[in-house]
This record gives sequence, structure tokens and C-alpha cells, in this order.
Amino acid sequence: MMSPTPRSYIKPLTVRQRIQREQPLGLPGINMGYNELPFPPSPLVRSAIEETMGRVNSYGNPTCTDLRSALSRIHDLPVDSIICGNGSEELLDVIGRCFARPGDEILISAFGYIQFPIVANRVGANLVKAPETDYSTNVDAIIAGVSDKTRIVFLANPNNPTGTMCSVEELEQLAQQLPGHIVLTIDLAYGEFVGADYCPAVHSLAKRFDNVIVTRTFSKAYGLAGLRVGWCVASEAVIPALYAGRGMGTVNAVAQAAALAALEQPETVADQIASIIAERERVTGACSAMGLHVVASSTNFLMVGEPDDDGQRADALVEHLFDTAGIIVNRTREAGLERFVRFSLSLPEHNDLLIEGIRSFIEAAPQNEPA
Ligand SMILES: Cc1ncc(COP(=O)(O)O)c(C=O)c1O
Repeated sequence: MMSPTPRSYIKPLTVRQRIQREQPLGLPGINMGYNELPFPPSPLVRSAIEETMGRVNSYGNPTCTDLRSALSRIHDLPVDSIICGNGSEELLDVIGRCFARPGDEILISAFGYIQFPIVANRVGANLVKAPETDYSTNVDAIIAGVSDKTRIVFLANPNNPTGTMCSVEELEQLAQQLPGHIVLTIDLAYGEFVGADYCPAVHSLAKRFDNVIVTRTFSKAYGLAGLRVGWCVASEAVIPALYAGRGMGTVNAVAQAAALAALEQPETVADQIASIIAERERVTGACSAMGLHVVASSTNFLMVGEPDDDGQRADALVEHLFDTAGIIVNRTREAGLERFVRFSLSLPEHNDLLIEGIRSFIEAAPQNEPA
């Protein structure tokens, strides 16, 4: 029997789980591999979830009217410049579908977020990577990478997995210099961890330039990763196209209610962000003191590695952290990042365990001795 043939440009993707084996000491798993927030939902968010659960025989509002109104008010953005999605991941995908097709080019920074190649693969666009400087996006290199086939520039800012970011001035330069038919998508998934003024300044680019789209998420600073709510700011001329590319009821009723409730507690969110930023400084210091290369992060995670490692030490560290403490971290496998691991900043006690795990790894087998 004939089997269906995907389009020739689709490269099949195998979704890899992190560590699947049992923790040898029977310790509970501590997942620090997904850049999530370690705090559970607040009582207010939980009660919004529970209350909506009793009504899930009904669809959620397809245009997320209340959520968009709240976002519009809080961020001082026209309500019609906002569209919500099933995580910002869906909106990145919709942007890909709306603006690129086979043969077009999607331009990203060399160590750009993994979803960007995935979107390019889905729509059959060719991915072009601009070189970075010290693991950071180089805006001049992005401009130099533009060709007459470029349709989208995807920029995660701050970026995952590197944690580095462009200043507002650099983003402004990019918006100014890119031809107006190229969509500049600035993915602000970690924007809240930069500082309070950063996101509004980036939104203003979407207000001023019709070709700039800024994506946001409730998965990181708002701690709602499992519910899948993202949103974006775009020119009002572009929004109807994004609705055409998006599924009709993609943001479910429970997710909408939880996101709305989370917006009612800005102090809780701010406190949690402050605690992660304090831990970022503390863990950066501890890892640097152990001789690790810590890439300066503006996010809720760190990318760290030993100097001169071909990747074997990083592989061994991942195993060691799991075997001794049940800690799961992310292994960055992109060419050029082989010596790094990436982990989310968590509760202080989990971060302490991680620091201890790294310390015992280095003490058991220092880098200049055979591992
Ligand atoms: C840079 C970046 N953008 C977007 C996302 C996806 O966010 P969401 O949960 O809103 O789909 C992630 C998740 O890790 C991310 O790292």
C-alpha cells in the first residue's frame, strides 16, 4: 500500500525527550531544562482556572476579547493591534505561514531560537543565519544577510539558548534599515527579565513600523507555560492576515481566564521576576567562581560551559546532575554551542543543589585530568 508523502521540503522531526531513565537514587526529578518559572499559580489564578473548568462545555472566546482589552489597557496599545495565540509558538508559526513560502528566505541570528528553523522547515523557506559576536546578535550582520528573497527576520530578544539581547537602539537600527516588505519579528518571550522599561520600548517599534511584530508570552514571567497563551503586537493592517493564519479557537477558555487573573496581580509577577533576577546574579557568580564560562544572561536561564570542552564534559555534566541530584538541564547541541548546558533559574534551594552538583562534578574530575 502506498503511504502518504509529505511535501519534499518537510524534514521529519523526531521529538526528543530529555532524560528518560529512572533516577538511580530514587530522588524526585527537578526539571531545570525548559526555562519555566518555578512558582505554582497563585490562589487567584487557581480559582479562575477552577471556576472556568465548570464551564468548559462552552468554547472560549475566539478573539480573546477580555484578555486583549486588559492587555491593551495595561500596555497602552490599541486593542486591534493585539492578537492572542496558543502560546507565542503558534504566533511565530502563523507569521511563518502568512509571510513565507517555499523558496523564500527566513533570516535569523546564528544561535537563534530553535523554533525559527522549525517554522522555516514547515513552510519550506530557506533558513539563512547571520554570524554573531560573542554569542550575541550582530545587527549589522543581520542587515548584511538580507537578500531579495528575505521575507522574515526572526529575532528572539533576549535569545534562547544564549540569554543575550540587543539594546532598544540596536532594534531601532534594524527596524530602520530593513526594507519595509520584510517582517521583523521580535520575540520578547523573556522581555520581562530585562527590566521594566524594556518591553514598552520594544512595543513602540511595532507601533511605529508596519513591518515589526512583537511576540509576548504568559509562559515565562507569568508562569503559565502549561496553559499555552501568547500574544503579539502588530500593525492593525497585518492583524487580519494573522487571524487568517491562526486556528479559530486556539486559546482555550481556561487559559484565557488564567491569563486575565494573572494580569490582575502585577505585584506577584514583579516579585517573582525580582527573585529570579536575584538568583541569576547569585548563580552567575557561583558558576564563574568555579571557572565556568557563563554567558551574561538577560533571561530566567543561564548558558554555562567549561572552556575548551569539545562537548564530552558537558554531556558528562548533564548525566552527573541527574544521577546525583535528579536535576535535568538542557544540553545545547547547536554547532558552536557544544560545550554549553542551559538551565533555568529556579527556587534558591534548587539552585543550591545545582551549584553543588556542578562543584562535585568539577572536583571529581577537573577539566585538565581525564574525565
Ligand atoms: C525565545 C522563545 N520564544 C518563544 C517560546 C515559546 O513560548 P510559548 O510557550 O509562548 O509558546 C520560547 C519557549 O521556550 C522561547 O524560548
